[in-house]
Amino acid sequence: MCGIVGYVGRREGRSSVQEVLLAGLAKLEYRGYDSAGISVIADERIEAVRAVGNLSALRAKLDGASTGGAVALAERPATTGIGHTRWATHGRVSEENAHPHYDTGNRVHVVVNGIVENYMALKDRLTAHGSVFTSETDAEVIAHLIAELYAGDLVEAVRSAYAQLEGHYAFVAMSLDEPDLLVGARKECPLIVGRGEGEQFVASAVPAFLAETRRVQYVENGELVVLRPEGVTIMTAAGEAVERPEHTVDWDQETAEKGGYETFMLKEIHEQADAVADAISDRTARGDGVNLAEEGALDEAVLKDVRRIVIVACGTSYHAGLIGRYAIEEWARVPVEMDIASEYRYRNAVIGPGDLVLGITQSGETADTLAAMRLARERGARVLAVTNVMGSQATRDSDGVLFTRAGLEIGVAATKTFLCQVAVMYLLALRMAELRGTLPPARLTELVSEVKRLPHCIDEVLAGVDEQVKPIADAYWQSDFFLYIGRHVGLPVALEGALKLKEISYIATDAYAAGEMKHGPIALLDDSTPVVCVATDSPVLEKVVSNMQEVRARGARVIALATAGNEQIARQADAVITLPAIDWMLQPMLAVIPLQVLAYEIARRRSLNVDQPRNLAKTVTVE
Ligand code: AGP
Repeated sequence: MCGIVGYVGRREGRSSVQEVLLAGLAKLEYRGYDSAGISVIADERIEAVRAVGNLSALRAKLDGASTGGAVALAERPATTGIGHTRWATHGRVSEENAHPHYDTGNRVHVVVNGIVENYMALKDRLTAHGSVFTSETDAEVIAHLIAELYAGDLVEAVRSAYAQLEGHYAFVAMSLDEPDLLVGARKECPLIVGRGEGEQFVASAVPAFLAETRRVQYVENGELVVLRPEGVTIMTAAGEAVERPEHTVDWDQETAEKGGYETFMLKEIHEQADAVADAISDRTARGDGVNLAEEGALDEAVLKDVRRIVIVACGTSYHAGLIGRYAIEEWARVPVEMDIASEYRYRNAVIGPGDLVLGITQSGETADTLAAMRLARERGARVLAVTNVMGSQATRDSDGVLFTRAGLEIGVAATKTFLCQVAVMYLLALRMAELRGTLPPARLTELVSEVKRLPHCIDEVLAGVDEQVKPIADAYWQSDFFLYIGRHVGLPVALEGALKLKEISYIATDAYAAGEMKHGPIALLDDSTPVVCVATDSPVLEKVVSNMQEVRARGARVIALATAGNEQIARQADAVITLPAIDWMLQPMLAVIPLQVLAYEIARRRSLNVDQPRNLAKTVTVE
């Protein structure tokens, strides 16, 4: 999750391209970045300056460059430039890993968002042909590839490179050989053009150029874009020009930062397909298994030989752990215990060598989770951190790290970080199964291909979610209590749905294992109680259906989550939300999305601040 900005122009009175780029990057910095850089072409020179830290570090370095002899970035009138702010997902935070990246001959510079899945194979080939790589990133491969393919036409070189690049990404390239030209390409990750007179802008998000122009053109998935001072051409990957209407955005800066969504939470809900794609794509690229051997990873011998796993986490991360437990036990046949971190640290746990503790924490800074991880480590267990934040405390208090790659999450209520945690737990379970030989190879391949379908299925859920959920929110937003029930992996979905609703709407909720209903909670039901039943297809579906009947018999209202095509559920519910079919173990990643949206829609109907709910903090660094 990074930010891209690009400029090309020869407009009378335009003072400094560097300033345009820096101002653009500043507007993307709200997403939280750890390194930044710009490249410009000026006076027949091309030059990059990059710095670790926020933009002020880059500014300080640029000031040094202008007095310290760097040529292009000194106060000469550049015409073309690209800039990037990085929020590290692959490769640590360092100047070498910051963008722009450039080829060995220092003629082609690129800024990249997203992930190039086949970068290892490309890197090997390019290295054999003489390219010298200077970073640990997947992104650098694009600069070398374009340079290798360049034969006097940057557009053609980018087009040929694009055909060889797998993954989901967006990039913008420029070359010293064609100084008045930027070429961008989009595969999934966004790229937007800002139209000017005698100058053009391109960025990963509108805020980057909103101060300069409100005229935008959207580059669609699978397209290339060619920007010259006098105009812009959008084309297909085959090189055919595409007519694309211009829009005028009337957003204020705050709306623009939210990508046009009314809140960060809604934006983050809608980023979930991309975020999950980031989390899984290169790790599942081989198809017949999972690759988790990356920087900072845990020694795989531990995963192979582990005797027992204990998962410690809080809140939403705990729910992700619960789903992970089902997957690890089912596929890798390792016993898994779950513990709420704040309880674990005070119960004199029996833990030691041979055990593996997973600390799941999106922020990597939750005090209770960190304390539980430290305690386990002191007693001889190995500790694996599952976190979203590079450099966080959890990464330092562990023997290995698995990053969830969700990008920065601003809304206090966790949404996309949860989906990425769950995705990563599936990958871990599959890798362990592979190492331990607990799944037949054909089944492993089948499950990997199901995991690879997840981003597409998430998109499908998001496309129809408003239509399915809004009427339910309209009907029940004034209720003062909701019960959520589920079984097996449906139970963590129920728990997470209930947590989302109470967090942002302040409605009392309870979530229960459906089979436990008759042991107490059923007493709560009357004819006005909405009961959310996770009734997606699974080996325990018939049991869930019996529990739904118990609910209906008390006159309560059933809101069911069902797999598309299962008419039986719709007949027994007051409202039904249907979800695409996928392997039942993976279903939680789809089922939780309508529950996030239900919580969101109810909170909005109650006029509440969903991004900053009362009494809650995004990172809980105190006990
Ligand atoms: C989730 O919506 C909450 N914000 C909260 O439960 C959160 O998951 C919990 O505080 C744990 O945070 P962590 O993942 O950063 O450790």
